[in-house]
Amino acid sequence: MTTLITGGAGFVGSYLARMLVEAGERPVLFDIAAVQGPLAKLRDRFVLETGNLAHLPVLMDCVEKYGIDRIFHLGGMLSLPSEQNPWGAFDANVIGTYNVLEAARIKRMSQVIYGSSIATYSKDIPGDEIDDRTIQRPSSFYGVTKTFGELLGRFYHRKFGLDFRGVRLPSIVGPGARTAHMSIYNAWAIEHALKGLPYVLECAPETRCPALYYKDAARALSMLSDAESGRILTRIYNIAGITPPFSASELVATIERKIPGARLSFKPDPVVVELLRELGSLRINEACAGLEWGWRAAYPLEELVDDFIEEFHKTRS
Ligand SMILES: NC(=O)c1ccc[n+]([C@@H]2O[C@H](COP(=O)([O-])OP(=O)(O)OC[C@H]3O[C@@H](n4cnc5c(N)ncnc54)[C@H](O)[C@@H]3O)[C@@H](O)[C@H]2O)c1
Repeated sequence: MTTLITGGAGFVGSYLARMLVEAGERPVLFDIAAVQGPLAKLRDRFVLETGNLAHLPVLMDCVEKYGIDRIFHLGGMLSLPSEQNPWGAFDANVIGTYNVLEAARIKRMSQVIYGSSIATYSKDIPGDEIDDRTIQRPSSFYGVTKTFGELLGRFYHRKFGLDFRGVRLPSIVGPGARTAHMSIYNAWAIEHALKGLPYVLECAPETRCPALYYKDAARALSMLSDAESGRILTRIYNIAGITPPFSASELVATIERKIPGARLSFKPDPVVVELLRELGSLRINEACAGLEWGWRAAYPLEELVDDFIEEFHKTRS
């Protein structure tokens, strides 16, 4: 079985690629960007195909060339870039996801795993708890594209029998994240402190955003892929992240305790504050992921910051 990771040069995709390499696989990464960071050191243990997800022939050539049988679909544009350039996000996230599903259908692949997002919800929900049946009416363009991907995947499952599965990830925190998104402050506050640089958080100190360590995110995708198909009833699952969500001021206090000399301050950006206001108060019910494929996060805030620091120093040594 050969695995393709779209967005394999990205933050989550490149850690997932490291996991697959360590398990003895030689994954194929499909991305418009180059591989950087720790994965680049494993150059001869994966393949990088450079291409745009919006171009089906390029994706098909790649799938054909390597006999791809399973896709982790993580490529595309995140929240802030999508809000700034909805036209580009339509190509990358909407056409791109359609192309991935078409490639999987035409080549009769065994599985597609989709990295969706809790940004598919908005404040416009009944109550303050979301579970896997809560209606998704996102207000951001990014959320609209991710909801489309989920629904199209369900259609390919019903119509063509494709084994499509997805997780709605919360904000992912870890070293080496390069793309700005509404909750990137979680990762960049730690990373700037480690680099000895000042950092201004664009959220409010009381902002709470559901967050998950990048190792947990990659492990969730891998566990979902490995789960027996008879157990997959819900198909697309909420992942709650660290529960209850920590506030930005709690994060800053933890960083200041563990990284002496950290220079962190707040200057709330109205766009970021508004996007996050919709998510922070939500309680995410991840019971289906627990029951159907045994999901449980391994890194609470303290362990997350400790491991982040360790990984950061490892990549520099
Ligand atoms: N980072 C988070 O906090 C978060 C939260 C929820 C869901 N997700 C989802 O997880 C997935 C991975 O996120 P990430 O944090 O690794 O993002 P990232 O920006 O680091 O990685 C995405 C990758 O996709 C590539 N890409 C973008 N447009 C492309 C195109 N048209 N063709 C080919 N490649 C393209 C980029 O070059 C990048 O390497 C995304 O689908 C995202 O929606 C991320």
